[in-house]
Amino acid sequence: MVILGIESSCDDSGIAILEDGKNLLHNKIYSQTDIHASFGGIVPEVAARQHVSSLGDLIQEIKDLNMLNVIQGVAVTKGPGLAGSLLVGINYAKSLAYALNVPVRGINHLTGHIHAAWIENQEEIEFPVIALLVSGGHSELVLMKSHKEKILLGQTRDDAAGEVFDKVARFMDLEYPGGPVIDKRSQLSKSKIRTLPVTNIKDSLDYSFSGLKTSTIKYISKIIEQNGQLDDNLINDICYNFQDAVVEQLVIKLKIAVEEYKPKSIIVCGGVAANSHLRARIKNESAIPVIIPSPKLCTDNGAMIAAAAFYENAFSKESELDLDVFPSLKMTD
Ligand code: KG4
Ligand code: ZN
Repeated sequence: MVILGIESSCDDSGIAILEDGKNLLHNKIYSQTDIHASFGGIVPEVAARQHVSSLGDLIQEIKDLNMLNVIQGVAVTKGPGLAGSLLVGINYAKSLAYALNVPVRGINHLTGHIHAAWIENQEEIEFPVIALLVSGGHSELVLMKSHKEKILLGQTRDDAAGEVFDKVARFMDLEYPGGPVIDKRSQLSKSKIRTLPVTNIKDSLDYSFSGLKTSTIKYISKIIEQNGQLDDNLINDICYNFQDAVVEQLVIKLKIAVEEYKPKSIIVCGGVAANSHLRARIKNESAIPVIIPSPKLCTDNGAMIAAAAFYENAFSKESELDLDVFPSLKMTD
């Protein structure tokens, strides 16, 4: 089946055409990062209005490539995310499905992130799977017995992992989003020492990152007080110190979950899965196969939405021309 996937839950407009869950015939992302960078974060109304023009351009491109006629179903993110941004995506999806006379289905963005792993690695992944989803809005550990059976094992009790990367970077006046720049600068650190605390909530697989965020901000303020200002070397060392504390917490809980639930594969996904330190540590320290989508499929994209629709067999159910958005949708909804 050839599925068109549309993603517009936050600040990336994504369109992809995926055949049989594995052949990516088309995959384009229009990122609004530069537009929001000057605000230091995403402005919901600006994001929604930008999706109107960028999704229009991306769909026009598919038309120009004569690819509209291969589409057999339209899958679109229905939540969670920003209501205005989601609405733009589902309205494009419904109109297109109506015009092409094919079904439309709403897809959960979170299961979309996990299903990105199957696009490039169908043969390697064996159930049960433990998936670690780490993005700008989510940090969740999930046990999957099949594509549709998911059990939430743990989640963040406060900030998401990506969110703290962005906030700590902002405090040091680094670019937005903070994850990629902290990742790059950590690699340049000469000291590579962690002194910041690693949160480890007892008897739970839940995460918590707000304490680390506060400690890091206090630590940076103290350094500025002592040194006058931050130089490149100090920033690189702080980035390493902070990143290592985030990664350590993610790895500790993942290891406990693996020990307890004995999965056959691990999937790491979401924007923070692009982090080089996290990727290396999980791959090096795991005895079972670890599947991490390539960086372009880790951050928000349309291909993961088409993949989730394919593997969850979404088109076995009726078309949803009356689809609404679900801004607070949960992983297991
Ligand atoms: O999945 P995503 O594109 O959007 C959400 O659904 O949230 O994730 C974006 C998040 C941002 O917080 C960004 O800073 C983070 O992923 N990120 C990274 C890296 N690349 C992106 N965090 C750490 N290291 C990276 N290399
Ligand atoms: Zn996402």
